[in-house]
Amino acid sequence: MSNASPPLPCIAILLAGGAGTRVGAGLPKQYQTAGEHPLIYYSLHTLLTHPDITGVWIVAEERYRDVIAHTAEKTILGFSSPGATRQLSICHAVEDLSARFPTETLILIHDSARPALTGQLISDCLEALGAHDGVMPVLPVSDTIYASTDGTHISSLLDRSTLYAGQAPELFRLGAYAKALAQLDEKTILSVHGSTEPAVMTGLDIVLIPGDPGNYKVTTKEDLERFRGENE
Ligand code: CTP
Ligand code: MG
Repeated sequence: MSNASPPLPCIAILLAGGAGTRVGAGLPKQYQTAGEHPLIYYSLHTLLTHPDITGVWIVAEERYRDVIAHTAEKTILGFSSPGATRQLSICHAVEDLSARFPTETLILIHDSARPALTGQLISDCLEALGAHDGVMPVLPVSDTIYASTDGTHISSLLDRSTLYAGQAPELFRLGAYAKALAQLDEKTILSVHGSTEPAVMTGLDIVLIPGDPGNYKVTTKEDLERFRGENE
């Protein structure tokens, strides 16, 4: 008999609570059509069909949940309501999942605005976890980055070799991540941009892995057109 313990259940949190103001169309970008499907279909499909993902929990407004259920080829575990920021949307999902699932459950947080997610990147995150508290895929920064506090003068020089751009999905342990969020006040949570920030602020051990340049985020109209072009 093997001594290997069974893999921990892993629930994907798929974020679809944003308004897509930078794309600027009436319908949020994740529900706009690309190829034959709404944008959200692509990452949802990858998550639902990955052998190590136990189920998908979605943050979305109620009025879009039928569209999502219709596009999914498997049952969605459940839904949470969006918050005013991406991090508050995550807080809602973490709160709802904590009430239903054991603390050792893994959570993989992904953006529905990153439709080109691959099964390989999900596997890479899960394989890298080991005894760490979390995993974040990152890309090296290719442009030289300057810091400016007023937008017109350089306030400090940065060493590009130490800089990385964070991607999604990010992997955490449900109980540890919920505890990290509980330690932060509302103002700090509102200041957060990436979901790994609360983990780092509270001393969790997050390991970086190479991200996937193809796993870009649809932020602008041009990004949406790019993805449409790739999926005609
Ligand atoms: N998101 C969310 N809840 C929010 C804000 C964002 O679930 N309150 C999700 C978006 O749906 C998206 C992901 O977080 O999948 C990344 O955010 P972003 O690219 O900023 O999307 P939007 O906030 O929708 O776009 P914009 O900032 O242009 O309004
Ligand atoms: Mg946004």
